Amino acid sequence: MKNVPRLLDGVAIASAIKAEVALEVKELAGKGVVPGLAVILVGHVPASEIYVRSKVKTCGELGIYSEMLTPPESITTDEMLALVAELNARPEIDGILIQLPLPKHVDTKRLLEAVSPDKDVDGFHPVNAGRLQAGQPGLAPCTPAGIIEILKRSNLPIAGQNAVVVGRSDIVGKPAAMMLLNASATVTVCHSKTRDLPKITREADLLVAAIGRAGFVTPEMVKPGATLIDVGINRVTDAAEVKEFFDSDPAREATFAKRGSVVVGDIHPKAFEIAGAYTPVPGGVGALTIAMLMHNTVKAAKLRRGIAMEK
Ligand code: GUN
Repeated sequence: MKNVPRLLDGVAIASAIKAEVALEVKELAGKGVVPGLAVILVGHVPASEIYVRSKVKTCGELGIYSEMLTPPESITTDEMLALVAELNARPEIDGILIQLPLPKHVDTKRLLEAVSPDKDVDGFHPVNAGRLQAGQPGLAPCTPAGIIEILKRSNLPIAGQNAVVVGRSDIVGKPAAMMLLNASATVTVCHSKTRDLPKITREADLLVAAIGRAGFVTPEMVKPGATLIDVGINRVTDAAEVKEFFDSDPAREATFAKRGSVVVGDIHPKAFEIAGAYTPVPGGVGALTIAMLMHNTVKAAKLRRGIAMEK
């Protein structure tokens, strides 16, 4: 019988989370609290502009106050540090997000460490990485937090599962591994120096791909029935490559014909066919990131004021 994998709908789960956040915002309003998010967008990076606009718009929809700061490309590290210090000191700002990437001349690491850990809604500060590691309350990075939400809300087991994370970035791979470990999975983290990667990924009940290479995880690397979580967002513009990925998918071929590109995850679409469940690209993990940012902003507002979290 043909395998019918379960599609994990990130858009629907994100909507549910946003509705819950909107309720929490309402409750806070009763206490005279309006959560506030400041987003810093440096220079003109088209992709970043789209993301930031979407973040600000979502704040508006949920009743979160937001501010967008747009310093020019020429801003120095010291000027950025002064800007962050100002936001750290402002009581009505609960979350500070520095949209990445920053221009090359700006010291990104120094800046991320300058954000007050209590306002670090991206969860990028080493103090929050430490809190995550120690199992203490804090702000966790949005994309890996979104992965956990997808699994939990889809009633997919984590405890006792063999989870394999491919990719070890500070933003996704490492924190995702830590969160899966905290949820009692048996976790393996793989990367570019890993020997015989397919042997390891084939053992995964739960496979998280966060490498940044289109279609990197092929069907031969996947255990039939596994849950596949695809974090990659790769734009493919080569017609032969599109054909290789989406040979019999008229919708994708039509998108390519219209736009000259299609978005592909880190997992080869043919690998999804043998999965038990999978997150599509687009419409999977990526859809959760902004919802989790909103969640973190409300969480930061509560933590900073000593208001108990619902969960
Ligand atoms: N650039 C791309 N994704 C992100 C993100 O999640 N946070 C920030 N700050 N910058 C990004």
